[in-house]
Amino acid sequence: MTDTPHDDCTRRTFVRAAGTTVGVMAVSGCQTGKKDNSNLASGSASLAHTDGDDKIRVGLIGCGGRGSGAAGQALKADPGVVLYAMGDVFSDRLENSRGHLTNTYGDRVDVPQERRFIGFDAYKQVMNSDVDVVILTTPPHFRPEHFKAAVAAGKHIFMEKPMAIDGPGVRSILEDAKIAREKKLNMMGGFCWRYNLPNRACYERIHDGAIGDITCVHSTYLTAPLGTKPRKDDWSDMEWQLRNWQHFNWLSGDHIAEQACHAIDKINWAKNDVHPAMAIALGGRQMRETPESGNIYDHFSVMYVYDDGSRCFHDCRQMPGCWNDNTEYLIGTKGTCYVNSWGPTQEISGPNEWFYEGKNPNMYQVEHDELFQAIRGKRDRIDDVDQMMSSTLMAIMGRMSAYSGQQVTWDDALQSTERLGPTSYSLGDLPVMAVSVPGNVASWNDLRSVDA
Ligand SMILES: NC(=O)c1ccc[n+]([C@@H]2O[C@H](COP(=O)([O-])OP(=O)(O)OC[C@H]3O[C@@H](n4cnc5c(N)ncnc54)[C@H](O)[C@@H]3O)[C@@H](O)[C@H]2O)c1
Repeated sequence: MTDTPHDDCTRRTFVRAAGTTVGVMAVSGCQTGKKDNSNLASGSASLAHTDGDDKIRVGLIGCGGRGSGAAGQALKADPGVVLYAMGDVFSDRLENSRGHLTNTYGDRVDVPQERRFIGFDAYKQVMNSDVDVVILTTPPHFRPEHFKAAVAAGKHIFMEKPMAIDGPGVRSILEDAKIAREKKLNMMGGFCWRYNLPNRACYERIHDGAIGDITCVHSTYLTAPLGTKPRKDDWSDMEWQLRNWQHFNWLSGDHIAEQACHAIDKINWAKNDVHPAMAIALGGRQMRETPESGNIYDHFSVMYVYDDGSRCFHDCRQMPGCWNDNTEYLIGTKGTCYVNSWGPTQEISGPNEWFYEGKNPNMYQVEHDELFQAIRGKRDRIDDVDQMMSSTLMAIMGRMSAYSGQQVTWDDALQSTERLGPTSYSLGDLPVMAVSVPGNVASWNDLRSVDA
């Protein structure tokens, strides 16, 4: 289990640097747990207020299932956390979330009417609400724009996966992260398995050479389809798509990016975050028939080719009535490793045989425990951006290759001009984009901004 958060490092110990919102922790006695003198030396982003309490004010943007869960985990992580502002495009989602959270956490949910914001600009108002931390849990299409606003406003950030759904979005986050680093902001990504203690113990051994050099990783995310919401008469195209966002590729990035990115992140983790040079993928849409199932595929199969000649494979499927699996199979020069995320089971076979027998606390809680410890300066600043954007881009490469039927290099995807979705948003008309058909080379060349 992570260090128990404690509150002896109060808001009174933060001082505001003259003329700026950047502060330093004044009392070195606050430093417990993991050593983090770098924050002290250079002045980490501090909490926004110096009003004599030790509150950390959290703003939630995207008040659905995951956002509500993350807000609860933030409240549990640190007794000084209060949920202070909420934003969602729909008031029913916000009120539902606020009601549930209030039932559990009482007056630590301090979100009066004037700090409840509705609409596509709600995120801007949350940023302006004197919060210290933002939780970004809308559909991923909006993440780069919301991340940009959070960095500009100097907020610490928890952001769910995937962090973008196209090359322009990835580039945007990578650029804004540079500014966030200058501001010493914590940036945590929702690749939650990185915060799962059994997985961490396993991948630490893998990185220490327990199975030798990794020659191949095969990861799977084979599961049933996600639920859909039938259209109501008074829903515009936009509302209907937003309420079924997982099934529209401009909102979700397709299920390879939205869901299976967890298993792609595990490939990335096994390879110690060395990214592939190229992806070659197959995919299609065989069993999705209702309008609510939108325009995404229901299966993908991707081969990732690395500069050292090694290859990794990923399969994902959302179909009913099929065999399900969510496992990484690692093959090394000295052994093999099996990591099943649903078990969860972690086993190393070969001369360094091992299986995990330790604790397995809720990984979502571990995320927030560590985030708020870092915000209080009790552990190193968290910066998940490089690995999370690498895994996000790998998923995008897989989708681009399957949709186009072409090989897609890392640079193709990173420099791509393909931006999915509208550039302005309103609850009105929005035709559904056609399902992609592989083999349309002319259209594929239009999307590339690098030479073949
Ligand atoms: N790490 C995990 O295990 C995990 C699990 C579930 C979901 N997620 C991720 O969390 C994110 C949210 O998923 P969810 O399951 O909570 O979806 P959800 O539909 O339950 O919630 C999304 C919320 O965002 C709101 N929203 C949509 N567009 C918005 C906008 N422009 N501005 C403000 N609010 C907006 C919706 O109205 C909704 O309330 C996704 O990126 C998803 O992939 C991660």
